[in-house]
Amino acid sequence: MTNATGMALRQVRKSYGATNVVHGIDLDVAAGEFVVFVGPSGCGKSTLLRMIAGLEEVTDGEISIGGRDVTDLDPSQRGIAMVFQSYALYPHMSVRDNLGFGLKMANTPKAEIETRVTAAAKILKIEPLLERRPGQLSGGQRQRVAIGRAIVRKPDVFLFDEPLSNLDAELRVSMRIEIARLHKELGNTMIYVTHDQTEAMTLADKIVVLRDGRIEQVGTPREVYEHPDNIFVAGFIGSPKMNFLAGVAANDGFDLAGKTFPLGYSLAEPGTPVTVGIRPEHIEVGPSGAATFSVEVDFSEYLGGTQYLYATLADGQSLVIEHRENTEILGDGSITVSCDPGRIEVFSATGRRMRR
Ligand SMILES: Nc1ncnc2c1ncn2[C@@H]1O[C@H](COP(=O)(O)OP(=O)(O)OP(=O)(O)O)[C@@H](O)[C@H]1O
Ligand SMILES: [Mg+2]
Repeated sequence: MTNATGMALRQVRKSYGATNVVHGIDLDVAAGEFVVFVGPSGCGKSTLLRMIAGLEEVTDGEISIGGRDVTDLDPSQRGIAMVFQSYALYPHMSVRDNLGFGLKMANTPKAEIETRVTAAAKILKIEPLLERRPGQLSGGQRQRVAIGRAIVRKPDVFLFDEPLSNLDAELRVSMRIEIARLHKELGNTMIYVTHDQTEAMTLADKIVVLRDGRIEQVGTPREVYEHPDNIFVAGFIGSPKMNFLAGVAANDGFDLAGKTFPLGYSLAEPGTPVTVGIRPEHIEVGPSGAATFSVEVDFSEYLGGTQYLYATLADGQSLVIEHRENTEILGDGSITVSCDPGRIEVFSATGRRMRR
C-alpha cells in the first residue's frame, strides 16, 4: 500500500445563489478506501466530488485530506487527480505525450517523466500503444490513457466522475474490473461517482447513497443491500428493484393481501399502513419458505439463467419474482411462492425501515 491518505468532510454545503444543492455532508473516508458516491441524476455527486477536487468552491464546511485542511487550497495543492467521463485527450499528441503532458507543464525532469509514463503504461497494459494518437485507440483504450494521466501524477487520492459512462456495456464491465485491480495494486484512496448501482456494488468498500444533496445511507455494499435504512436506499440498490407492497401492521407482524405474516413482534399499532419490501430474488417458487402466498403470473421473461415473473397478488398489487431454477420454465397462471420472512423489509409511511 502506498500513498494512502484518508479524508474527512464536515458539514460541507454548496449553494448556487439561493439554490442549495448540497446540504451539510459529513463523511469520513479511511486511508486506502474505495468509496463510491451513488444516486440519481442531479443529487449532487459531481458537485461533491468537484468540491473535494477544489474545482468548485465550498459554500460552507470543511474538507481535509490526510489530516490537512484543504478547503481553500488550489486543486494542484490537494494531492488529488481526477478522471472525468469525457477524457479529453489531446488529439495531436501521442499517448506517451498525453500521459506526460501534465508533468512536463509542471517542469518535471525528462527522465522522471519517462519513468512515470513507463510505469503507468505497464500498470494499464497500454505499452504497445504509446506511440499512437488518441484517434487510433478504442474507447476503452482512451479511458485507460485518461486514467494513466492521473496515475503519473502520483496523487494521494484518485477522484473518478462516471469514468465509464461513455463506454458500451461490455467494455464497462471489463474497465470496471480494471479499476478494481488498479485499486488493489496502488492501494490509494479512491472516490468514484456513478449512478450505476452495479458499479457501486462491485467496486466499493463503502457506498454513499445520495439523494437531493443529502446522504441517505453510508455502508458496505452488503450493508446497504441487506439493511437499507429507508425505502429510497432499498429501491435504489438491487436489480430488479425491490417490490414495495402496501400492507398494514398486525398484532404480530403485518397483513398483506389478506394474509398475516408473523414476525414475532409488533411493528406498530395494528392497522397502521406499512410498506412491505421483498426483493425479487428472495421470492421462491414453491411452498418451501415460512411465508407462503399465491400469485397470478401475468407474463414472464426468460433470460437464460434466470426468469422474471411479473405477477399479481390476491389484492391486485403487482410484484416481480426472480426465478433462478432453470430446470423448469414457468409460463402464465396461478402459482404458490414463498419467502424467508427474515428477508422481508417493512417501512413506515415516512419510508423509514421498521424491522429490527
Ligand atoms: N452552476 C450551477 N448553477 C445552479 N445549479 C447547479 C449548477 N451546477 C449544478 N447545479 C445543480 O446542482 C445539482 C447537483 O448537480 P450535480 O452535477 O452535482 O449532480 P449529479 O449527481 O452529478 O448528476 P448526474 O448524475 O446527472 O451527473 C443539480 O440539481 C444541478 O442542477
Ligand atoms: Mg454528475
